[in-house]
Amino acid sequence: MNIYSAENNTIDLAAKQILSGKVIAFPTETVYGLGADATNSKAVEKIYKIKNRPKNNPLIIHVNSIENALNFGIFNKSALKIARKFWPGPLTLVLPSVENSPISGFVTSGLRTIAIRIPKNKIARKLIKIVKKPIAAPSANISGKLSPTQAQHVYENFRNNIDMIIDGGACKLGIESTVIFCSNDSISILRPGIITLEDVEETINKKIESNIKNNKVISPGTLKKHYAPKLPIKMNVTSVSPEEALLTFGKLWPKGSKTTMNLSKNSDLKEAAANLFSMLNKLDKSGAKNIAVTKIPNEGIGVAINDKLKRASEK
Ligand code: TXA
Ligand code: MG
Repeated sequence: MNIYSAENNTIDLAAKQILSGKVIAFPTETVYGLGADATNSKAVEKIYKIKNRPKNNPLIIHVNSIENALNFGIFNKSALKIARKFWPGPLTLVLPSVENSPISGFVTSGLRTIAIRIPKNKIARKLIKIVKKPIAAPSANISGKLSPTQAQHVYENFRNNIDMIIDGGACKLGIESTVIFCSNDSISILRPGIITLEDVEETINKKIESNIKNNKVISPGTLKKHYAPKLPIKMNVTSVSPEEALLTFGKLWPKGSKTTMNLSKNSDLKEAAANLFSMLNKLDKSGAKNIAVTKIPNEGIGVAINDKLKRASEK
C-alpha cells in the first residue's frame, strides 16, 4: 500500500522522491495535489501522463513565500496586495512569467504566464521547505474526475501508479483554490473558489472582470465536463424518486430517496464546499441510478459549488 501517514520521515522521503524526479501525492487545505519538481520537465511530463491530462492545461506551482514567488511571476501592486492578504491560503495568482524562468515549459503549457500558490496546509509547507524548489501540483485525480479530498480518494484514482500518497486526513476546505489572473492590462477571475470575487475586489479596491459567465469559466484547457462522478447528475431538483441518490442543502429537502446526504443542514456554504467532493464520492458508490441535487444559492462560495456541479452534470 502506498498511503503513508504524515510523519516527519515520510515528508523527508517524499521530498527525496520529488528531487529524484518522481511524482507523489500530498494534502493541501483545498484538495490533494499530485506533485513534482516544477523545474524538471521529465518529472512534470509524468504528471500529465498519470492524470491523463491534456497538455494544454497548465499547472500551478506551489511555493513557500512571496519572496520566493517573485522569482517566477511578475507582481504588480494589485497582485502584491492580493498575495499579502490571501497567502498562505486557497488562492492562485496567474501572472506574467519572469524572463528566463527556471520553470519547465510543461508547467505553463508554453504560455507566458505562470500560476502560483502558497498553500496553508502544514504538511504541504514542510514538503516545499525541504524540497527548496517550487512544486508543480494539479489536483490528484484522473483528469475530468472528482477531486480528491482524502488520501483514499487519491488511491482510488491511481492505485499503485504513484509511489507515495501522504495521508493528511480530510482536506479542510474541500474545493480547489480561486484562480485570479492579474496583469497590468486586466484582473479577472478564472476559477471560482472559497475566496470570492467580492473578497478580492474589496482587497484591491477595484472591479474585477468575471470570466465565469453562465457558470462557464474561461481558462486554457478548462474542460466543460469536469469533476464528474460515474453517475449522471441532475441539478436543481425539487422532487426525487427512490432509485435516485439525493444531495441536498439546508433544513428542508424532498423526501423519497433511499440515500440522502446533506451538504449543510445549517445552510453554511463553507461547510457545503468542504463536503461536496467526498459526498459525491460516497453517493457515486450507492448503487443509485443517478445523483439528484437540490438548488444551492449561487452567491459567495455557492458560485464555486454551482460551477463544479454544472461541470459534473455536463454530458
Ligand atoms: O487548490 C488547488 O488549486 C489545487 C491544489 C493541489 O493546490 N490544485 C489544482 O490544480 O486545482 P489543477 O491543475 O487541478 O487546476 C489548475 C487550474 C486549471 O484550471 C488551469 O487551467 C489553471 O489553473 N491554470 C494554471 N496555469 C494557468 C495559466 N498560466 N493561465 C491560466 N490558467 C492557468
Ligand atoms: Mg483539477
